[in-house]
Amino acid sequence: MEAPSPQGRHPGWPAKLGPLQVKAGLVAVRGPRLFDASAWSRIRLRDRDHLERWEPTAPGTWEDRNGTLAWPGQWSSLRALARRGMTLPFVITVDDQLAGQVTVGNVIRGSLCSAWVGYWVASHVIGGGVAPAAVALVVDHCFMLAGLHRIEATVRPENTASLRVLEKLGFRQEGLFKRYLDVAGDWRDHFCYAITTEDVPDGLVSRLLANGRATIPQ
Ligand SMILES: CC(C)(COP(=O)(O)OP(=O)(O)OC[C@H]1O[C@@H](n2cnc3c(N)ncnc32)[C@H](O)[C@@H]1OP(=O)(O)O)[C@@H](O)C(=O)NCCC(=O)NCCS
Repeated sequence: MEAPSPQGRHPGWPAKLGPLQVKAGLVAVRGPRLFDASAWSRIRLRDRDHLERWEPTAPGTWEDRNGTLAWPGQWSSLRALARRGMTLPFVITVDDQLAGQVTVGNVIRGSLCSAWVGYWVASHVIGGGVAPAAVALVVDHCFMLAGLHRIEATVRPENTASLRVLEKLGFRQEGLFKRYLDVAGDWRDHFCYAITTEDVPDGLVSRLLANGRATIPQ
């Protein structure tokens, strides 16, 4: 059970969002739980080829960082950051099975009210509209309940699948960050995309519904 943060202190956390029906199944997001360890690790170990080339370089082997024993540390640090209002971490479920993560990080309030969003989905659901649905649910939540005004996403120019996710949602490309992030062992250029509340007065989910990319289950 996730303990709610003190009333009004970190709006928008914890939360369960969705579901939305897409080609791959019923997509929802919720906070990460300790017992997600085996499902999370099984996917992460199996999908190394699909994930590693797009993720920030980190110390240790892939097996060490993604084995079952790695999850409790990740879960508790995500939870600690969420409780301090710095992150809104979510796992994605498809038909109630863990199938990825969406993380809103570097939450800055005051006169910025901004954060970044990052995401991955399991290889068995790619191409099924899962990431657009999950990101739409989370961005709407950030704008409508968590009090944020701007969400950014940075993507390598080579990552055509991720660029498509942001284009389908209507994020705006704002520039190219040169040698921005150490990914898969080198400093990589990244496009910066962003969206603000003014861009989507009715929210991203309604945009997906209007474009026929998702439906609300009956
Ligand atoms: C990027 C990613 C999150 C997209 O998630 P998704 O749920 O598959 O998103 P979509 O279903 O909207 O598909 C996006 C695009 O992927 C591509 N795609 C579709 N099927 C694919 C397949 N079998 N293999 C590879 N790419 C495929 C298509 O270009 C598709 O765009 P389209 O719908 O216009 O044809 C997912 O591929 C992923 O987890 N990649 C590895 C991690 C990563 O790159 N994270 C983002 C870092 S910025």
